[in-house]
Amino acid sequence: MKLTINRDLYSVDNKDASRKLLWFLRDDLGLIGTRFGCGAGICGACTVLVDGQPKRSCITPLSSVADGPSIRTVEDLAANGSLHPVQQAFIDEQTPQCGWCMSGQMMVAVALLEINPTPTDPEIEDALAHNYCRCGCYSRLRRAVRRASVLASQ
Ligand code: FES
Ligand code: FES
Repeated sequence: MKLTINRDLYSVDNKDASRKLLWFLRDDLGLIGTRFGCGAGICGACTVLVDGQPKRSCITPLSSVADGPSIRTVEDLAANGSLHPVQQAFIDEQTPQCGWCMSGQMMVAVALLEINPTPTDPEIEDALAHNYCRCGCYSRLRRAVRRASVLASQ
């Protein structure tokens, strides 16, 4: 199998077909920005983008994202050497408390803004509704996505 991650191609043995994407990212590639939370597809801490759509990597078998789909992790957001508007906005709004959920939150925000560059507050809330923040940073998250929308338009 071949996996396309952050535009690089990786070969994976077929015996690893059922292995979960999260552990390939973290343990094999050292892409530890993608976090482990619940491990059960519930919290969203492990969210990456697969062909632009948020996906929970802790429950995603490698075989389901091999040979075609483009996987994007939080490490890719600043790949061109400058912060992505979502990253800058999260900094500007001092969004994180402990920070554990934030890479997943940012990936959801990136996916939202790619399909809807000027989301309303209810649309932001809907998009982030299934990514939990145990620190309760929801109002700052909403403000950060709003700010990212403005930054991206400048
Ligand atoms: S760690 Fe994947 S959804 Fe919680
Ligand atoms: S900032 Fe701590 S879980 Fe979200």
